[in-house]
Formats: sequence, C-alpha cells, structure tokens
Amino acid sequence: MTSVDDLPIRDDLRGRKPYGAPQLDVPYALNTNENPYPPSDRLVKALGEAVMDVAGSLNRYPDRDATLLREDLAAFLNADTPGVGLTAARVWAANGSNEIIQQILQAFGGPGRTALGFEPSYSMHPVITEVSGTRWIDAHRDADFGLEPERAVAAVKEHRPDVVFLTSPNNPTGTALPLASIEAVLDAAPGMVVVDEAYGEFRREGTPSALTLLAGHPRLIVTRTMSKAFAMAGTRLGYLAADPAVLDALLLVRLPYHLSAVTQAVARTALSFREELLGGVDALRAERDALVAWLRGEGFTVADSDANFVLFGTFPDRGQVWQSLLVRGVLIREVGPPEWLRVSVGTPEEMAAFREALKESA
Ligand SMILES: Cc1ncc(COP(=O)(O)O)c(C=O)c1O
Repeated sequence: MTSVDDLPIRDDLRGRKPYGAPQLDVPYALNTNENPYPPSDRLVKALGEAVMDVAGSLNRYPDRDATLLREDLAAFLNADTPGVGLTAARVWAANGSNEIIQQILQAFGGPGRTALGFEPSYSMHPVITEVSGTRWIDAHRDADFGLEPERAVAAVKEHRPDVVFLTSPNNPTGTALPLASIEAVLDAAPGMVVVDEAYGEFRREGTPSALTLLAGHPRLIVTRTMSKAFAMAGTRLGYLAADPAVLDALLLVRLPYHLSAVTQAVARTALSFREELLGGVDALRAERDALVAWLRGEGFTVADSDANFVLFGTFPDRGQVWQSLLVRGVLIREVGPPEWLRVSVGTPEEMAAFREALKESA
C-alpha cells in the first residue's frame, strides 16, 4: 500500500500529524469549546428559508467580496464594542477564523519569515504558521498564563517577528490580556500583530476588546469567529477587523469565491438572530464561574477564565483522568501544559455529569 511517505510531498510536511481533536460519539462532548445550545426551532426555520432563497441561484458564483455579510458583521462589532465605528471596508470574512489566520500568514508570513506566539496558546497558530512555510517562534507566557508587557516586548525585540499572535482570552488557559500588554507589543513589533479574540464575547465585565485599539494601529488585526458565542461552529464563519489596507493584502491571497453563497446566507441569518444566539452567553459565563468555584472548592488548581472553558489540574497522570472521564461518557481535552486538562462549559446537565464523573476519576 502506498503511504504518504512514498509520495513526493514537501520535505517540511514529512512526519507531521494531521489535526485530530477526537470526534467521538459520547453523551457529554466537552472538548472543543463549542456552544452547547443548538439553534431554536425559529432559527432553524429561518436558516432553512435562507438556504432556499439562495438555492435557486447556486449555478452562479457567490458575491466574492461577501459585502452584505461584512456589513452585518461590522454592525455586530459596533454593538459589541461601542465606539469602534467599523464599516465593511474594515471587516473581512472567511471559512472559520482558521482560514482567516491562514490568509494572514499567506500574506504576511511565508518562507524566510517568522511568526511568534506566547505558549501555551491555540495549537493551530504554530501549525498554520509552519504549513505556510513560516518559521514559528515560541515565546512563553508567564507562570500564571498572563503576559507582562515587559516580557512580551523583550521577546518581540529579540526576535523581530513578521507576525505576532496574541490570544485573548487565551486558549487553552482562558486568560484575557490587559490592553497594556497588547499596546506594548503593538509599539514594539516591526510587523503585523494578530489578536485572536475567538472567545471575545465571553470576556468578563470590564475586560476590554482589542477592537478599541484599531484606530491608529494599521498593523493590528483582531480576529473573531461565529463558532463559539454565536453557536454556529458548523457554519464555518470567521472574520477579522483591521485597516482597509490589510484587506487589500488579503485579497491577494484569498481564493476566488472562497465563501459559499450558502455560508453567507446562513451567517447573515444567524447575525439577524444575534440577540437570541448571544442570549446563551450570560448563562455560559455564569456556569463557567460556578465551575471554577466548584473546582477550587474540590481542591483543584484552576486558571482564571474569560472564555467558555476552564483549564484545571494538576494531575501527575492527566491521561488516566481523561480516560476515566471518557469511560463515564464525558469527553474533555488533554491540551496545554502536561499536568492540566481543559473542559468546555456546557449546559447545567452536562456540567453536573462532568462533576460527578470527575469526583469518581481524580
Ligand atoms: C483561539 C482560537 N482561535 C481560532 C479558533 C478557530 O475557530 P474557527 O475556525 O472555528 O473560527 C479556535 C477554535 O477552537 C480557537 O480556540
């Protein structure tokens, strides 16, 4: 049988493993930070109608600039973070924020260039970086998973990367960054600064978004997604806000008609239901805070979380705890520092099942 190694594949891809968070059929899937609340019947109906509306013209390519969708996304961001004054000219969309990140690296990274991130952080940043031919530089987060401005600036000055990734709230730790750290990096970085806010809508009261820094910072890109708070992971819709010149750069690398007419219609419909969809965010935040308190009460070490997941530990053998939970029907994630585990925040019922299973497992 032919294996991948028998093919004339790029040398730098040899030996790599594909992305593989387990997709198992379990009663309690708490491993990929999805939103546990499915669309309401009303939204399901509206989504069906929206798809019907575009179905009759699927012989045509979609609007390759997704202009109406970008207008809707800008309107959402203006409501989420008042005062940012965004328009479609400063908002770009793609198939998940993973594709957004890929386009950023295609435009601003590449062979002979570097991207720097502060780990532990989102595991796909280094993967997408390296697959784009860009060299990855790991500058570590502080011991409490935060990032002091001085240390961040020192790393940026030492390595002078073409792209810096700052994830806030960070995955897998849940840690949000103070604007001071982001501003300090923006001042020191010679290249692009990407603030990945995939979990931005879950941030605690008083935690500002990097969207507020866009004015006057043409090398800042803030990325968001509809996969988490918007409960639309299956839609695959990610987006960014940045200076219009950044969008001009991305137009050079995006594939023609990258965002299907169905995706655009579904995403716009979901955005028109944003109050309903984001209505679940407060419940998830409350559930998260209760989970953190419970875990601490049980004697675990827990990272502060501004996201819809919690990193907790520490376990001499986390694999054994993970397996024991799985046997009880609860799938969480073995990710981040070796002695920690990450659990996504689910419904009250899912969280009760997790607590019961953890009591029997740890
Ligand atoms: C920090 C972060 N960024 C980006 C993504 C990618 O999200 P999507 O491609 O679904 O928009 C994720 C997904 O888990 C994430 O955790």
